[in-house]
Formats: sequence, structure tokens, C-alpha cells
Amino acid sequence: MGKIILTGDRPTGKLHVGHYVGSLRRRVEMQDSGEFEKIFIMIADAQALTDNAEHPEKVRENIIEVALDYLAAGLDPSKCTIFIQSQIPELTELTFYYMNLVTVARLHRNPTVKNEIVMRGFEESIPAGFFTYPVSQTSDITAFKATTVPVGEDQLPMLEQAREIVRKFNSVYGEVLVEPVAVVPDNETCKRLPGTDGKAKMSKSLGNCIYLADSAEEVKAKVMNMYTDPNHIKVTDPGTVEGNAVFTYLDAFSKPEHFPKYLPDYNNLEELKDHYRRGGLGDVKIKRFLCAVLEEELAPIRARRAEFAKRIPEVLEMLRQGSIEARATAAATLDEVKAAMRINYFEDDAWVKEQSAKYSAGDAQ
Ligand code: TRP
Repeated sequence: MGKIILTGDRPTGKLHVGHYVGSLRRRVEMQDSGEFEKIFIMIADAQALTDNAEHPEKVRENIIEVALDYLAAGLDPSKCTIFIQSQIPELTELTFYYMNLVTVARLHRNPTVKNEIVMRGFEESIPAGFFTYPVSQTSDITAFKATTVPVGEDQLPMLEQAREIVRKFNSVYGEVLVEPVAVVPDNETCKRLPGTDGKAKMSKSLGNCIYLADSAEEVKAKVMNMYTDPNHIKVTDPGTVEGNAVFTYLDAFSKPEHFPKYLPDYNNLEELKDHYRRGGLGDVKIKRFLCAVLEEELAPIRARRAEFAKRIPEVLEMLRQGSIEARATAAATLDEVKAAMRINYFEDDAWVKEQSAKYSAGDAQ
């Protein structure tokens, strides 16, 4: 069997450049590589509701934003199936069965969930749905028999959890499910792009994100305000590159060919960093360079986004069709799962016959 991709995002906001370098860019490359038999891209609205139950409108209003971000980034519905999680009830059904294959203690140990519990201040008041979302994520992956899951590094514990559930399922009920492999960015910086304020986490509430939907002016204003080295006050001061958001973004986005084009005094990023460390290089100059580099990558995305935004009925139809297609695949897997679990009573003619025989034999005695 060929390789199959499944991945997705929670629709709690527009996608930002962290999503882009962390996973989205790679998905598009994988899509265009022709190496994959099927590619499923899921808008994880049901998962988003696990910690937004009281704000369904927040999830609802971001469905189209995320779909537009996908299309803008280059995901192509003729090559991949883009769908909405809640439209596939088979996923919830799988989750209910997988729930029996994982312990509460194991879920407590999941580092991503642990971290999210702290971030959201849940403590003991954590919704059961949120606590168990790693199990639901296992359903997302296994329903499509995904071999390959391109995600950000923060999702690795989810993949580990999925692999464990798959192994458990297959050992108890027989080989039905496929063990997935995560694909994370190979560039260290792309694994965790910081916010424009230098903070580790990009988040809408911190106002430190550059969105794929941002205009050129917005991107420029954000870059010009970016956190650099607080001790680099005069141009002549030696500067620090580590933890300096402008350099981190250059690590993630700049390519050798950008230098002759936009900053011909330097041959490469190393030379630029060396000069900054020695002193004599001002922040504004590097920020202008970063603006040019970002613009090269973001301008075509922004233009495509604007085009798709004019064709919302088509975008919705694409999501509807994608969901129908995805559902058929998930339903086929669920059938296999139920057969393996021996709960496919009415599809099992032999079983039906056996029952009559068994009980009528009983009557005869
Ligand atoms: N948890 C992912 C996120 O936070 C979204 C997601 C849901 C996902 N189900 C998935 C990712 C399955 C990969 C595979 O964005």
C-alpha cells in the first residue's frame, strides 16, 4: 500500500507564519512530490471545541479562514482532500472504542496535554473531552490509515500516543490499524518559530503573530517592531544573535539567493550574523532585509488568498465534497474495526446462523 498523509489544524484563528514553516509549507511540498497515494487535510473543529465549548462561534468563524489559508499556501483540492472533522461521525465512534485502550494515568503523562492544562489554567476543572483529545486525534489519524503525519514538534506526544493505541488495538483485535510516523521540520528554527516579541509561543492573545492573511503594511509594521537584542542600543554595540527574533526569522525564511538580491554586502546569513556580533550593524537594516525576505514568500500567498476569498461558494463546496469523500474512507475503516472487535453482528451471516442453531438446539433438549 502507498503512503497516506493525514494532518490538520484547530480552527481557533487564522494561520500564522509559525504554522507555515512548522508544517504547512512541508505539506505543500509533500503534496507536490507525488509520493503519496492519498492526502487528507482536516480542519479540526471538534477538537477545537474541546476547550472552546462555550464559544462555538469562535470555531465556526475560523473554518473559512483556515480553508483560505490552506488554499493560499498551495494546498490543491485536486491533489488532496480537505475536510471538516465534525462532519465525520465515524471519528467519534472510533474514539469511544479507543478510549478503552488507554489509561487515565497514561493520558496524564502526555506532555502536550500537561502543558496545555497549565497554559489554560484548567487544573482540576479540565473538560473530559479536552483531557482525552489525544485519543480522538488517534481516531483522526487511523481512520484514514495514515502512514505519515506532518506536524509541528509540539504534536510528537500525540503521535506517540496514537502509535501506542494502534499497537494495543492490533494486538488485542488483530492487525487492522496502521502505525503512523510524524514528520517534523528538519530546520531547528522552523520547529518553534517564536513570536515577534521574542516569546517562545506565538498566540493571538499575545498579539505577537504574523498571519498569512496580513497585508504587506501589517507585516512591515510587525517586523519593524520586532524584538531584537535589548542590549544592542547603538549601532556600534556588539549584538547577540541567539534569542534575537529577527535572526530567528531569518534562519527560518532566508535563502542564499536573497543576499545578492536584497543585501549584496553579505554573501550569506553567517556573515550577517558575524557583523552583528562584532557591532556596527543596525537593527533597522536587518529588519528591512527580513521584510524583503518575508515579502517574497508571503506576497504570492496573500494574492492567492485574496482570489479565493472572492469565491467563497466554491470554497464551501470544496469543503463539503472533501467531507463526503473523507467520510467514505473513515466509514470503511470503522467497518473493519467493528468486524475485528466482533461487534458487527448483522454483517456477520455466520454468526447470525450460529445463534439460531445454538438456541434452537437448546429448545430441543
Ligand atoms: N492537534 C492539532 C493542532 O493542535 C490538530 C489535529 C487534530 C491534528 N487532529 C490531528 C494534527 C491529527 C495531526 C493529526 O493543530
